[in-house]
Amino acid sequence: MKKTLLDSDLVSMRPLGTGDVSFIQRLAAAKEIANNTYVPHPYPPGAAEEFVAKAREQWRSEEAFVFAIVEKASGQFAGCMGIHPASAHNRAEVGYWIGLPYWGRGLATAALRLIIQFGFDKLKLNRIAAGHFPHNPASGRVMQKAKMRYEGRLRGALYHHDEYKDELRYAILRSDYKPHQSQ
Ligand SMILES: CC(C)(COP(=O)(O)OP(=O)(O)OC[C@H]1O[C@@H](n2cnc3c(N)ncnc32)[C@H](O)[C@@H]1OP(=O)(O)O)[C@@H](O)C(=O)NCCC(=O)NCCS
Repeated sequence: MKKTLLDSDLVSMRPLGTGDVSFIQRLAAAKEIANNTYVPHPYPPGAAEEFVAKAREQWRSEEAFVFAIVEKASGQFAGCMGIHPASAHNRAEVGYWIGLPYWGRGLATAALRLIIQFGFDKLKLNRIAAGHFPHNPASGRVMQKAKMRYEGRLRGALYHHDEYKDELRYAILRSDYKPHQSQ
């Protein structure tokens, strides 16, 4: 898929590039990111470079589409959001993080809305899902604001920081998003 740009009032999104490496290396190192994701902590030297290289390869092979989230107001790199299709089922999983200095500005919600639109309009998906740890209600709120529906609690589904944790699952279907269109 060609370079894709997504755009709203608050954020623009584009494929990750090598220019993002230093921002990711700095922002992804915060403990608050690792507490709620599988981003390692401490964040090893070179990890951001590897992450960007992998994302670019996945984009080329259409295995996943990982976007940089750029805050419109400042023009700054603020975080990442990726959509990972499982093409046999025409569905995808979304994951994301926003750098700590940018929290609470509506950026994750704006980005999730854009990636959902990308998933249905460009990838022609039927279902887009995401999940979060119970100790991270802000992420659930982001999913709700993007019109994903709560589907349930998977007990002990995720092994994270040496313990099994529950996962709260959300999803949106094409029929929720475009109720008058079957394809
Ligand atoms: C979760 C995260 C993505 C939110 O990003 P953000 O840009 O601050 O999100 P938004 O500003 O769009 O929305 C956050 C919402 O959560 C709400 N919120 C914040 N803390 C909350 C809490 N403890 N309980 C409930 N809601 C909370 C905010 O009030 C806001 O909702 P509102 O607009 O109705 O007031 C960001 O904090 C983050 O990257 N965290 C670490 C990594 C992570 O959790 N990734 C997702 C893994 S599933």
